[in-house]
Amino acid sequence: MSICILGIESSCDDTSAAVICDGVLRSNVIASQAVHEAYGGVVPELASRAHQQNIVPVVSEAIKRAGIGKEELNAIAFTRCPGLMGSLLVGTSFAKGLATALDIPMVDVNHLQAHVLAHFIQDPGTPYNPPKFPFLCLLVSGGNSQIIRVEAYNKMKVIGQTIDDAAGEAFDKCAKVMGLPYPGGPVIDRLAKEGNPRAFALHKPHIAGLDYSFSGLKTSFLYLLRDKIKEDPAFIENNKNDLCASLQATIVEILMDKVYKAVKETGIKEVAVGGGVSANSAVRGAFEQYAARYGWTIHLPKLSFTTDNAAMVAITGYYKYLDHDFCSLDKAPFARVEL
Ligand code: KG4
Repeated sequence: MSICILGIESSCDDTSAAVICDGVLRSNVIASQAVHEAYGGVVPELASRAHQQNIVPVVSEAIKRAGIGKEELNAIAFTRCPGLMGSLLVGTSFAKGLATALDIPMVDVNHLQAHVLAHFIQDPGTPYNPPKFPFLCLLVSGGNSQIIRVEAYNKMKVIGQTIDDAAGEAFDKCAKVMGLPYPGGPVIDRLAKEGNPRAFALHKPHIAGLDYSFSGLKTSFLYLLRDKIKEDPAFIENNKNDLCASLQATIVEILMDKVYKAVKETGIKEVAVGGGVSANSAVRGAFEQYAARYGWTIHLPKLSFTTDNAAMVAITGYYKYLDHDFCSLDKAPFARVEL
C-alpha cells in the first residue's frame, strides 16, 4: 500500500500544495501572488489574505492532479516555520482542519530542511540522482544564506550562515535601487547576461569562518550609484547590464569562497545547492566549474524546486512520516527558527 502525503506551503508569497506517494511526485500546484508587484516587496497582510483566497482551490487541484481521492491521503505536511506569521497561520490552520476532518496525522515541516530535502523528490521524467550522505548544501534564498552539513534526512547542522542580509536580499535590494521590478534576482540574472562582470569593483566581506555577510556589498553598491549619478544622472540607465553583471559576479564569488572553504574543512565533496537563488545561472555555472576543477559531485535542483513549493514540504513530510514524527493539534507556527 502506498504512502501518500499532501504538502502545504504558505510561508511567504506562494500558496502551494503537492502530493507525493512513496517519494514520487504526483502533483505540485503553485499560486504566486502578483498583488505585491506594485509595492516592490512582499506586504505581509496582503500575503495572508491571498493565501486565504488561494488555499482551497490550490489544495483541491493538487489532490485532483495526483489522481487520488482525499481519503487516500496518509498525512498532511505543512510549513510551520520560518516565514511570515500571518502566511504560516493560514497553511497551519488549514492543515489542522483537513487533518482533523480526514482523521489523519499532521507533520510539521521546517521550510529550510524542506529546501535541502527537495533533492530527494522523485519527479517522473527527470533523472533521479539524489545526494549521498553526508553532503553539504548551500541554501540561498530571499531570507537565508547558509551552509548546511547534512548527515541524514533528519540530521542536519548549519555550519555557516549570514550575519546580516541573505544573498537573495542583496539581489532584491540592489535591484530596487536600480528601479528594477520585484523580485530583482531573476531580472538581474537576465540583464547580467549582456553585461561585463568586471566593469565595477564591489566590496567583498572579510568574515571569519564559514559565515556570510552581504550588507557591506549592498552599501558599496549604493555608494557607487550615488557617486556616479552625481557625474551622470543617467548612469544607472546607461550601465544597467554592467551593474547587474558586476553585482551578480560578486555575490557568486562570496558564496563560492565559503562553500570551497567548507569542502576543504569537512573533506566532503558531495555538494548541493537549494533555495530561490539556486535558480541563478551564474550560481549554477559556478557550481559546474568548481565540480570540474575540484572533483566535487554537485546537485543542482530542478528550477521548479528552487523557489517556494509544496513538493519539498511533501517529501520532508514523507520522511518524517516514515520516522513516525508527527505533530499535535496544539502546534503553533513560528516566524523564525533555525534548522
Ligand atoms: O526560496 P525563495 O523562493 O523564497 C524564500 O526566501 O523563502 O527565494 C526567493 C529569492 C528572492 O530573493 C529572488 O530574487 C531570488 O530568490 N531569486 C533569484 C533568482 N530567482 C529567484 N536570485 C538570483 N537569480 C535568480 N535567477
